[in-house]
Amino acid sequence: AVARDPVVERIEALKKSREAIILAHNYQIGEIQEVADFVGDSLELSRYAARTSHPVIVFCGVHFMAETAKVLSPDKTVVVPDLRAGCPMSDMITPEEVRALRARHPEAIVVTYVNSSAAVKAESDICCTSANAVAIVNSIPADRPILFIPDRYLGEYVQRQTGRDLLLYSGFCPTHVRIMASDIARERESHPDALVIAHPECPAPVAEAADVVASTSRMASEVRLSDKKTVIVGTELGMIHRLSRENPEKTFIPACQTCDCANMKVNSLERLLWALEDLSPEIRLSDEVIAGARRALDRMLEVS
Ligand code: 13P
Ligand code: SF4
Repeated sequence: AVARDPVVERIEALKKSREAIILAHNYQIGEIQEVADFVGDSLELSRYAARTSHPVIVFCGVHFMAETAKVLSPDKTVVVPDLRAGCPMSDMITPEEVRALRARHPEAIVVTYVNSSAAVKAESDICCTSANAVAIVNSIPADRPILFIPDRYLGEYVQRQTGRDLLLYSGFCPTHVRIMASDIARERESHPDALVIAHPECPAPVAEAADVVASTSRMASEVRLSDKKTVIVGTELGMIHRLSRENPEKTFIPACQTCDCANMKVNSLERLLWALEDLSPEIRLSDEVIAGARRALDRMLEVS
């Protein structure tokens, strides 16, 4: 028999005794994706967290995702491998800034990308993820102005898809802006038959150069359905683990070698084990923030 990694064995034993479930985002390191009970995009992970019956959720992703799990399952213990795994985009806007924007645009509906703190969500009308942003904006009456926060590039993508004029904020993902349209052009030249996939957090020249612009899990389903043997990947490098596992016969070429989210990579198998051992660090939120963020997340889940 093949010797099993003792850390993995210990994680599996503790998972049982703690009745825990391990959720992981598509950008997590391969070892974490392999021990997870479910690997998905932000929308799928929120839905999963909302309906799980396990008393403990170990959330392997970044801080705002674990907060979302806590908001949707407030009676559960939500722990993370490392509290330092944040998301710089989500730190680009504060609840005070949302309140100031609302005062300036009192008519506007505030649509907040889930890559934001729970406290910012609590100041919002409705949330969206990259998977449902277009549907959420389309669900809002055409005569209402929309303030879209915090990702300017996702906002611009939604504008192009819906034809709506959005009031945009200046947030961005420092990882996705590293991909250049010239990276896509170069790889297309070397692999003329390849499928090009990109995340809507990429600026417009990259999104427009891609064949598919989608959330991380929709990327995975588009790749599975495509008959193209080579795929140029315009998103965070961790995505290639899932894509390669599901499509061992296909070749994946990163559009940009430095498209690495350092925060997603703070989590390690050892830290995941310690989180399960200690049930710490735990995500804790005030009742007020939970209630406010829940309203905006529930509205999102009702629409999509
Ligand atoms: P997805 O919801 O598409 O998985 O995206 C999350 C994210 O942080 C992208 O950078
Ligand atoms: Fe945040 Fe970008 Fe990392 Fe996603 S890839 S978690 S948006 S910094």
